[in-house]
Parts: sequence; C-alpha cells; structure tokens
Amino acid sequence: MFSGQAHPMLAEAVAAELGTKPGNCLLENFPDGELRVEILEEVEGRQVFLLQPTGPPAADRFLELMLMADACKRAGASQVIAVVPYFGYARQDRRAKTGEPVGARLIADIMEQRLDRILTVDLHTPSIEGFFRIPIDHVSAIPLLAEALRPELEPDSVLVAPDLGAVKMARRYSQLLDLPVAYVHKIRVSGSEVQVREVVGKVEGLSPVLVDDMISTGGTLRSAMKAVLDMGCLPRFTIAASHSLLVGDAIQQLALFPLSKVILTDSIGRTEFGSLPVQVVSLKKILAEAMQKLSLNRIPEPTHSMP
Ligand code: R5P
Repeated sequence: MFSGQAHPMLAEAVAAELGTKPGNCLLENFPDGELRVEILEEVEGRQVFLLQPTGPPAADRFLELMLMADACKRAGASQVIAVVPYFGYARQDRRAKTGEPVGARLIADIMEQRLDRILTVDLHTPSIEGFFRIPIDHVSAIPLLAEALRPELEPDSVLVAPDLGAVKMARRYSQLLDLPVAYVHKIRVSGSEVQVREVVGKVEGLSPVLVDDMISTGGTLRSAMKAVLDMGCLPRFTIAASHSLLVGDAIQQLALFPLSKVILTDSIGRTEFGSLPVQVVSLKKILAEAMQKLSLNRIPEPTHSMP
C-alpha cells in the first residue's frame, strides 16, 4: 500500500489497522512544477493499493494517483487498486447544458487505463459506477455517521435533506435513526449559488439534522438552513456529511448559523475547522476492512444501497 500526498495521515491510520505501514515512495515536483513519482518498494507480482482522495487541488491529486498507478504497472504489479475516499469530479456526472463535458465519465475513462479496481466512499451519484468497465467497490460512511449522530439527537429531531439529491441518503439515516424526513427543493444557479424553491415535510418546532454527501462552499446547507428557519424550525442545527471540502469562506459562513454539532469523516485531509463544532469520524476501519477483503479476493459488502 502506498499513499499519495493528499492524505498520508489516513493512509497511516488504515495501514495501522491492517498491521502494516505505507510503502516508501518518492513524491515531489520537478523544477517546472510537474509531479514526480518513484515507487521505492518491490511490487512485481503483487497486489498494490494506492490511497489518494482526489479533493482540492483535484487535478494534481488525480494525476499523482495515475502516475503512481502507471509506475506500479510498469514495475510489474499484478493488480493496482485505487482507494479513493473522496472521489473528485463526481458532481460532473451529466451535462446541465450544451457545451459542458461529462467530467466524471472522462475521469473514469482515464482511471481504467491504469487501474484494475477502485474502492471509494459515498460517491456523489452511485450510478457513476456505470461509467467504469473496471469494478468499483462503493462503501458508505452513513452507518458510522449515524452512530455519531445518535447521542446528539433531541426527541424532536427531524432529518432534513438539503436538496433532492440527498433524499435517498436522508431515508437511509431515517431507517437507522428512526426519524422523520423533510427535504428542501433547491436549484443550483452556479457553482457557488443555489436557490430554494420549497420545503417539503414538517420542520416547524423541530430540531433539524441536515445530512448530505458533501459540503463544498456550504451554499447548499446555508440555503437549506435559512429555508427551514423561515418555516419555523428551532434554531439548533446538527449536520452530518461524508466529505468536507469546505472551500473558500465556507467555515466562516456556516459558523454564522446556530450549529450544535457538525459530524464529518476524514475522507479529505482537512484538520482545521475554525469555530465550527466539528466531530470527525474516521473511515480507517471501513477502508481497512474493505481492503482486507480485496486482498483475500473477496468483495467488500456494498453499504451504499438505499431504499
Ligand atoms: C449536490 O448535489 C451535493 O450533494 C451537495 O449538496 C453540494 O455539492 C454541496 O456543495 P456546496 O456546499 O457548494 O453547496
């Protein structure tokens, strides 16, 4: 197992779960800025895992992963498996208008040139799996996040999906936590701006627990929180999300809301959360378990299936 530069801390933690350490490899830049990779262990005939979330800067993280995969293949690795806890470009899974690419499909086309298999967590859209001709093992952080949410719940808690895409995810939390679900109908105006059309379900007098696959600018969550406050919910928010990009001033903007807890995973190597009341739950165990199964040529249990 080798780690790219994106998240060596998670790689160390996963390796420790497996009773090992990440292998030695050189990761640096040439003077002109190009990435330089050198695998410093014997990989001939071996199954290799490469751990690298492809969060910001997504292009560099992605290219480094592919350079590592190429190096392993050329050195004779028998199987190269990418462990990608956060899968960048997944939101570009369709064209919203003419002139746009299908970025996730392009990424899939490139990845399958050098990789034999991919292990990932809470893909933005599970159907992205269909873009690949190599197997994708897709595990979910929802059971972990739900357990972390449990002690935070109030008798009057309601799950809120901040957009239609999060409804299935909210239903999964609802099954695990036995809570009602409301949802916000959002439309995206641009990469950083969203508008709310309506709130469906009862939130008045209740404590909202917002769940989403990811927080990027925080715009989706902020619009949803404003909308449910307008509908008379209690000013006490709990948030759970699998991936915390928290780009730009997302942390400062979210901190303007009455948040009692924000529960995130360590899919991305962020450790600074300003004044947000963040609790991080680690993916190390579920990734280690899935990798262990793959090393025994067994298939990890997909935990993403939602009703
Ligand atoms: C959208 O479909 C996703 O599930 C997230 O709601 C969204 O990508 C989060 O982005 P942001 O925080 O920038 O609104």
